[in-house]
Amino acid sequence: MPVDAVELPKSLVSISRARLKILDQRGLPETVAYLDCSELSEVISAIKNLAVRGAPAIGLAAAYGLVLGLDDCADEPTRIQGELRHRSQALIAARPTAVNLSWAVEQMLDFAATKAAALGEAGWRDRLYQQASKLFEADRAACRAIGIAGAALLKDKPSILTHCNAGSLAVSEFGTALAPIYQAQADGLPVQVWVDETRPVLQGARLTAYELMAHGVPCRLITDNMAAHVMSQGWVDLVLVGADRVARNGDAANKIGTLGVAILAKHYGIPFYVACPWSTIDLETPTGAEITIEERAGDEVRQIQGVWTAPRDVPVFNPAFDVTPAALIAGIITERGILKPAALSEHAPEVTDG
Ligand code: MRU
Repeated sequence: MPVDAVELPKSLVSISRARLKILDQRGLPETVAYLDCSELSEVISAIKNLAVRGAPAIGLAAAYGLVLGLDDCADEPTRIQGELRHRSQALIAARPTAVNLSWAVEQMLDFAATKAAALGEAGWRDRLYQQASKLFEADRAACRAIGIAGAALLKDKPSILTHCNAGSLAVSEFGTALAPIYQAQADGLPVQVWVDETRPVLQGARLTAYELMAHGVPCRLITDNMAAHVMSQGWVDLVLVGADRVARNGDAANKIGTLGVAILAKHYGIPFYVACPWSTIDLETPTGAEITIEERAGDEVRQIQGVWTAPRDVPVFNPAFDVTPAALIAGIITERGILKPAALSEHAPEVTDG
Protein backbone atom coordinates (compact mmCIF):
# COMPACT_ATOMS: atom_id res chain seq x y z
CA MET A 1 0.00 0.00 0.00
CA PRO A 2 1.44 3.48 -0.80
CA VAL A 3 2.42 5.72 2.11
CA ASP A 4 0.05 8.67 2.51
CA ALA A 5 2.35 11.67 2.11
CA VAL A 6 -0.32 14.11 3.27
CA GLU A 7 0.05 12.92 6.87
CA LEU A 8 3.80 13.53 6.95
CA PRO A 9 5.23 16.94 7.86
CA LYS A 10 7.11 18.62 5.02
CA SER A 11 10.14 20.86 4.98
CA LEU A 12 9.46 22.73 1.73
CA VAL A 13 5.83 23.58 2.35
CA SER A 14 4.93 25.53 -0.73
CA ILE A 15 6.98 26.33 -3.74
CA SER A 16 6.66 28.79 -6.59
CA ARG A 17 9.12 30.62 -8.80
CA ALA A 18 8.88 33.75 -6.65
CA ARG A 19 8.57 32.25 -3.19
CA LEU A 20 9.75 29.30 -1.13
CA LYS A 21 7.87 28.63 2.08
CA ILE A 22 10.02 26.62 4.50
CA LEU A 23 8.91 24.96 7.72
CA ASP A 24 11.32 26.40 10.30
CA GLN A 25 12.57 23.21 11.95
CA ARG A 26 14.37 25.07 14.73
CA GLY A 27 11.14 25.52 16.68
CA LEU A 28 9.83 21.97 16.34
CA PRO A 29 8.09 20.27 17.95
CA GLU A 30 6.79 23.09 20.18
CA THR A 31 6.48 25.85 17.61
CA VAL A 32 5.29 25.37 14.07
CA ALA A 33 6.48 28.47 12.20
CA TYR A 34 7.36 29.16 8.60
CA LEU A 35 9.90 31.23 6.69
CA ASP A 36 8.74 32.93 3.51
CA CYS A 37 11.78 33.25 1.32
CA SER A 38 11.68 35.46 -1.74
CA GLU A 39 15.42 36.08 -1.95
CA LEU A 40 18.49 33.91 -2.25
CA SER A 41 20.03 35.33 0.95
CA GLU A 42 17.03 34.12 2.96
CA VAL A 43 17.47 30.58 1.67
CA ILE A 44 21.20 30.63 2.40
CA SER A 45 20.58 31.75 5.94
CA ALA A 46 17.84 29.10 6.41
CA ILE A 47 20.34 26.43 5.33
CA LYS A 48 23.12 27.76 7.58
CA ASN A 49 20.97 28.08 10.68
CA LEU A 50 19.26 24.67 10.20
CA ALA A 51 15.77 26.05 9.63
CA VAL A 52 15.94 23.67 6.67
CA ARG A 53 18.28 20.70 7.13
CA GLY A 54 18.81 17.15 5.96
CA ALA A 55 20.96 16.49 2.89
CA PRO A 56 18.30 16.18 0.17
CA ALA A 57 16.17 19.02 1.59
CA ILE A 58 19.03 21.51 1.57
CA GLY A 59 19.87 20.52 -1.99
CA LEU A 60 16.30 21.12 -3.10
CA ALA A 61 16.03 24.40 -1.17
CA ALA A 62 19.24 25.50 -2.91
CA ALA A 63 17.92 24.56 -6.36
CA TYR A 64 14.81 26.67 -5.81
CA GLY A 65 16.82 29.36 -4.04
CA LEU A 66 18.99 29.75 -7.11
CA VAL A 67 15.94 30.96 -9.05
CA LEU A 68 14.45 33.29 -6.41
CA GLY A 69 14.57 36.99 -7.26
CA LEU A 70 16.07 36.39 -10.69
CA ASP A 71 13.51 38.84 -12.11
CA ASP A 72 15.96 41.67 -11.49
CA CYS A 73 18.58 39.91 -13.56
CA ALA A 74 19.07 41.29 -17.07
CA ASP A 75 18.05 39.08 -20.02
CA GLU A 76 21.56 38.79 -21.36
CA PRO A 77 22.88 35.17 -21.45
CA THR A 78 26.46 35.85 -20.32
CA ARG A 79 25.30 38.02 -17.44
CA ILE A 80 22.76 35.39 -16.44
CA GLN A 81 25.44 32.69 -16.40
CA GLY A 82 27.65 34.96 -14.30
CA GLU A 83 24.83 35.67 -11.86
CA LEU A 84 24.02 31.94 -11.56
CA ARG A 85 27.65 31.09 -10.87
CA HIS A 86 27.87 33.80 -8.24
CA ARG A 87 24.69 32.53 -6.56
CA SER A 88 25.88 28.92 -6.73
CA GLN A 89 29.11 29.67 -4.91
CA ALA A 90 27.22 31.37 -2.09
CA LEU A 91 24.81 28.43 -1.80
CA ILE A 92 27.47 25.72 -1.83
CA ALA A 93 29.44 27.53 0.86
CA ALA A 94 26.47 27.41 3.25
CA ARG A 95 27.22 23.84 4.46
CA PRO A 96 30.14 21.67 3.34
CA THR A 97 29.40 18.03 4.21
CA ALA A 98 26.14 17.09 2.47
CA VAL A 99 27.01 16.53 -1.17
CA ASN A 100 23.35 16.93 -2.15
CA LEU A 101 23.78 20.70 -1.81
CA SER A 102 26.56 21.04 -4.39
CA TRP A 103 25.03 18.25 -6.47
CA ALA A 104 21.71 20.06 -6.82
CA VAL A 105 23.36 23.40 -7.57
CA GLU A 106 25.60 21.77 -10.19
CA GLN A 107 22.59 20.08 -11.78
CA MET A 108 21.02 23.53 -12.15
CA LEU A 109 24.21 25.07 -13.54
CA ASP A 110 24.67 22.21 -16.00
CA PHE A 111 21.09 22.68 -17.16
CA ALA A 112 21.67 26.41 -17.63
CA ALA A 113 24.90 25.68 -19.53
CA THR A 114 23.25 23.22 -21.92
CA LYS A 115 20.46 25.71 -22.53
CA ALA A 116 22.84 28.68 -22.70
CA ALA A 117 21.52 29.90 -26.02
CA ALA A 118 17.97 29.98 -24.65
CA LEU A 119 18.90 31.92 -21.51
CA GLY A 120 17.50 35.40 -21.90
CA GLU A 121 14.67 34.27 -24.18
CA ALA A 122 11.11 34.64 -22.92
CA GLY A 123 10.35 32.10 -20.19
CA TRP A 124 13.98 31.22 -19.29
CA ARG A 125 13.34 31.80 -15.59
CA ASP A 126 10.38 29.42 -15.70
CA ARG A 127 12.51 26.77 -17.36
CA LEU A 128 15.10 27.00 -14.61
CA TYR A 129 12.37 26.76 -12.03
CA GLN A 130 10.97 23.69 -13.80
CA GLN A 131 14.40 22.12 -13.64
CA ALA A 132 14.44 22.59 -9.85
CA SER A 133 11.02 20.94 -9.75
CA LYS A 134 12.40 17.99 -11.72
CA LEU A 135 15.01 17.50 -9.01
CA PHE A 136 12.24 17.63 -6.41
CA GLU A 137 10.20 15.02 -8.27
CA ALA A 138 13.26 12.80 -8.72
CA ASP A 139 13.89 12.96 -4.98
CA ARG A 140 10.27 12.00 -4.27
CA ALA A 141 10.56 9.01 -6.56
CA ALA A 142 13.89 8.01 -5.01
CA CYS A 143 12.45 8.17 -1.49
CA ARG A 144 9.48 6.04 -2.56
CA ALA A 145 11.82 3.45 -4.08
CA ILE A 146 14.05 3.47 -0.98
CA GLY A 147 10.96 2.87 1.12
CA ILE A 148 9.91 -0.13 -0.93
CA ALA A 149 13.41 -1.64 -1.12
CA GLY A 150 14.10 -1.09 2.58
CA ALA A 151 10.72 -2.33 3.84
CA ALA A 152 11.67 -5.83 2.68
CA LEU A 153 14.45 -5.83 5.31
CA LEU A 154 11.98 -5.13 8.09
CA LYS A 155 9.76 -8.19 7.53
CA ASP A 156 11.58 -10.20 10.18
CA LYS A 157 13.33 -7.25 11.84
CA PRO A 158 10.59 -4.98 13.19
CA SER A 159 12.56 -3.17 15.91
CA ILE A 160 14.70 -0.44 14.39
CA LEU A 161 17.08 2.08 15.90
CA THR A 162 17.68 5.36 14.07
CA HIS A 163 19.90 8.37 14.66
CA CYS A 164 19.26 12.01 13.68
CA ASN A 165 16.39 12.72 11.29
CA ALA A 166 16.27 11.19 7.85
CA GLY A 167 12.51 11.40 7.44
CA SER A 168 10.06 13.52 5.51
CA LEU A 169 11.44 16.68 7.13
CA ALA A 170 14.86 16.00 5.62
CA VAL A 171 13.85 15.41 1.99
CA SER A 172 11.14 16.25 -0.54
CA GLU A 173 8.68 13.74 0.96
CA PHE A 174 8.70 10.38 2.84
CA GLY A 175 12.34 10.31 3.90
CA THR A 176 15.30 8.02 3.41
CA ALA A 177 16.01 6.05 6.61
CA LEU A 178 12.41 6.52 7.75
CA ALA A 179 10.90 5.68 4.34
CA PRO A 180 11.22 1.88 4.80
CA ILE A 181 9.58 2.27 8.21
CA TYR A 182 6.65 4.24 6.78
CA GLN A 183 6.36 1.73 3.95
CA ALA A 184 6.48 -1.25 6.31
CA GLN A 185 3.79 0.30 8.47
CA ALA A 186 1.60 0.95 5.40
CA ASP A 187 2.13 -2.73 4.50
CA GLY A 188 0.79 -3.75 7.92
CA LEU A 189 4.12 -4.83 9.47
CA PRO A 190 4.44 -4.28 13.24
CA VAL A 191 7.39 -1.84 13.22
CA GLN A 192 8.68 0.09 16.23
CA VAL A 193 11.51 2.58 16.42
CA TRP A 194 14.15 3.49 18.99
CA VAL A 195 14.93 7.16 18.44
CA ASP A 196 18.35 8.49 19.51
CA GLU A 197 17.88 12.05 20.71
CA THR A 198 20.98 13.15 18.71
CA ARG A 199 22.87 15.78 20.64
CA PRO A 200 23.78 18.54 20.20
CA VAL A 201 20.90 19.81 18.06
CA LEU A 202 18.41 17.05 18.96
CA GLN A 203 17.19 16.16 15.48
CA GLY A 204 16.10 12.77 16.82
CA ALA A 205 14.14 14.07 19.79
CA ARG A 206 12.68 17.13 18.13
CA LEU A 207 12.12 15.93 14.57
CA THR A 208 12.17 12.14 14.23
CA ALA A 209 10.00 11.59 17.31
CA TYR A 210 7.68 14.34 16.06
CA GLU A 211 7.22 12.95 12.58
CA LEU A 212 6.99 9.29 13.64
CA MET A 213 4.28 10.23 16.10
CA ALA A 214 2.50 12.36 13.49
CA HIS A 215 2.45 9.24 11.33
CA GLY A 216 1.36 6.92 14.15
CA VAL A 217 4.55 4.83 14.18
CA PRO A 218 5.26 3.36 17.64
CA CYS A 219 8.53 4.86 18.89
CA ARG A 220 10.58 5.36 22.04
CA LEU A 221 13.01 8.19 22.59
CA ILE A 222 16.37 7.47 24.24
CA THR A 223 19.36 9.67 24.96
CA ASP A 224 22.36 8.81 22.80
CA ASN A 225 24.20 7.13 25.68
CA MET A 226 21.34 4.63 26.11
CA ALA A 227 21.75 2.97 22.72
CA ALA A 228 24.36 0.48 23.97
CA HIS A 229 22.12 -0.67 26.79
CA VAL A 230 19.09 -1.05 24.53
CA MET A 231 21.14 -3.08 22.03
CA SER A 232 22.68 -5.21 24.79
CA GLN A 233 19.18 -6.28 25.82
CA GLY A 234 18.44 -7.65 22.35
CA TRP A 235 15.81 -5.01 21.68
CA VAL A 236 17.17 -3.75 18.36
CA ASP A 237 16.91 -5.88 15.19
CA LEU A 238 18.37 -3.42 12.71
CA VAL A 239 19.88 0.07 12.57
CA LEU A 240 18.74 2.42 9.81
CA VAL A 241 20.31 5.84 9.28
CA GLY A 242 20.59 8.42 6.50
CA ALA A 243 23.75 9.92 5.01
CA ASP A 244 25.13 13.28 3.96
CA ARG A 245 27.80 11.96 1.64
CA VAL A 246 28.84 8.44 0.71
CA ALA A 247 32.34 8.09 -0.72
CA ARG A 248 33.20 5.77 -3.64
CA ASN A 249 34.45 3.05 -1.26
CA GLY A 250 31.15 3.11 0.70
CA ASP A 251 32.34 5.11 3.73
CA ALA A 252 29.34 7.19 4.83
CA ALA A 253 29.27 10.59 6.52
CA ASN A 254 26.20 11.19 8.65
CA LYS A 255 25.19 13.07 11.78
CA ILE A 256 27.72 13.05 14.60
CA GLY A 257 27.17 9.97 16.73
CA THR A 258 26.37 7.66 13.82
CA LEU A 259 29.85 6.11 13.95
CA GLY A 260 29.36 5.17 17.60
CA VAL A 261 26.02 3.55 16.78
CA ALA A 262 27.64 1.57 13.94
CA ILE A 263 30.42 0.32 16.23
CA LEU A 264 27.85 -0.73 18.82
CA ALA A 265 25.77 -2.49 16.17
CA LYS A 266 28.84 -4.43 15.04
CA HIS A 267 29.57 -5.45 18.63
CA TYR A 268 26.05 -6.77 19.15
CA GLY A 269 25.73 -8.37 15.69
CA ILE A 270 22.97 -6.00 14.57
CA PRO A 271 22.84 -5.16 10.83
CA PHE A 272 23.58 -1.50 10.17
CA TYR A 273 22.05 0.00 7.00
CA VAL A 274 22.41 3.42 5.40
CA ALA A 275 19.52 4.74 3.28
CA CYS A 276 20.10 7.53 0.77
CA PRO A 277 19.23 8.65 -2.73
CA TRP A 278 21.86 8.45 -5.44
CA SER A 279 22.34 12.24 -5.11
CA THR A 280 24.11 11.53 -1.77
CA ILE A 281 26.67 9.23 -3.37
CA ASP A 282 29.84 11.01 -4.32
CA LEU A 283 31.91 8.77 -6.58
CA GLU A 284 34.47 11.54 -6.97
CA THR A 285 35.46 11.30 -3.32
CA PRO A 286 37.53 8.11 -2.96
CA THR A 287 37.12 7.46 0.78
CA GLY A 288 35.56 8.96 3.88
CA ALA A 289 38.91 10.47 4.86
CA GLU A 290 38.47 13.07 2.09
CA ILE A 291 35.01 14.19 3.27
CA THR A 292 34.98 17.67 4.81
CA ILE A 293 33.35 17.57 8.22
CA GLU A 294 31.44 20.72 9.12
CA GLU A 295 32.27 22.25 12.50
CA ARG A 296 29.52 24.30 14.04
CA ALA A 297 29.31 26.97 16.74
CA GLY A 298 30.35 25.93 20.23
CA ASP A 299 27.15 27.23 21.78
CA GLU A 300 25.28 24.27 20.24
CA VAL A 301 27.22 22.16 22.78
CA ARG A 302 27.29 24.66 25.66
CA GLN A 303 23.51 25.02 25.45
CA ILE A 304 20.47 22.84 24.97
CA GLN A 305 17.76 24.70 23.11
CA GLY A 306 19.08 28.09 24.24
CA VAL A 307 19.60 27.13 27.91
CA TRP A 308 23.20 27.19 29.16
CA THR A 309 24.23 23.73 30.37
CA ALA A 310 28.00 24.36 30.58
CA PRO A 311 30.32 27.21 31.58
CA ARG A 312 29.68 29.90 28.98
CA ASP A 313 33.33 30.11 28.00
CA VAL A 314 34.34 26.44 28.11
CA PRO A 315 36.27 25.47 24.96
CA VAL A 316 34.22 23.20 22.73
CA PHE A 317 34.72 20.87 19.77
CA ASN A 318 31.56 20.55 17.69
CA PRO A 319 31.87 18.42 14.55
CA ALA A 320 28.42 18.08 12.98
CA PHE A 321 29.14 14.76 11.26
CA ASP A 322 31.29 11.66 11.48
CA VAL A 323 32.25 8.97 8.98
CA THR A 324 31.21 5.34 9.33
CA PRO A 325 33.64 3.02 7.53
CA ALA A 326 32.15 0.85 4.79
CA ALA A 327 33.20 -2.27 6.73
CA LEU A 328 30.52 -1.52 9.34
CA ILE A 329 27.74 -1.04 6.77
CA ALA A 330 25.66 -4.08 5.78
CA GLY A 331 24.10 -2.29 2.82
CA ILE A 332 23.18 1.04 1.29
CA ILE A 333 19.50 1.33 0.44
CA THR A 334 19.09 3.46 -2.69
CA GLU A 335 16.55 3.90 -5.46
CA ARG A 336 18.74 1.46 -7.40
CA GLY A 337 18.32 -1.27 -4.80
CA ILE A 338 20.20 -2.36 -1.70
CA LEU A 339 23.87 -2.20 -2.60
CA LYS A 340 26.99 -3.48 -0.93
CA PRO A 341 29.18 -0.46 -0.06
CA ALA A 342 32.04 -1.82 -2.17
CA ALA A 343 29.82 -2.12 -5.26
CA LEU A 344 28.60 1.48 -5.53
CA SER A 345 30.53 2.47 -8.63
CA GLU A 346 29.09 -0.49 -10.57
CA HIS A 347 25.61 0.97 -10.13
CA ALA A 348 26.28 4.57 -11.15
CA PRO A 349 23.43 5.99 -13.24
CA GLU A 350 23.94 6.80 -16.91
CA VAL A 351 24.58 10.49 -17.49
CA THR A 352 21.59 11.95 -19.34
CA ASP A 353 20.93 15.38 -20.79
CA GLY A 354 18.42 17.07 -18.45
O1 MRU B 1 22.78 18.69 10.38
P1 MRU B 1 21.60 18.03 9.72
O2 MRU B 1 20.39 17.99 10.58
O3 MRU B 1 21.34 18.60 8.36
O4 MRU B 1 22.07 16.52 9.51
C1 MRU B 1 21.21 15.64 8.87
C2 MRU B 1 21.69 14.25 8.81
O5 MRU B 1 22.77 13.93 9.24
C3 MRU B 1 20.79 13.27 8.10
O6 MRU B 1 20.92 12.00 8.66
C4 MRU B 1 21.19 13.21 6.62
O7 MRU B 1 21.27 14.50 6.08
C5 MRU B 1 20.24 12.41 5.82
S1 MRU B 1 18.70 13.23 5.58
C6 MRU B 1 17.74 12.24 4.59
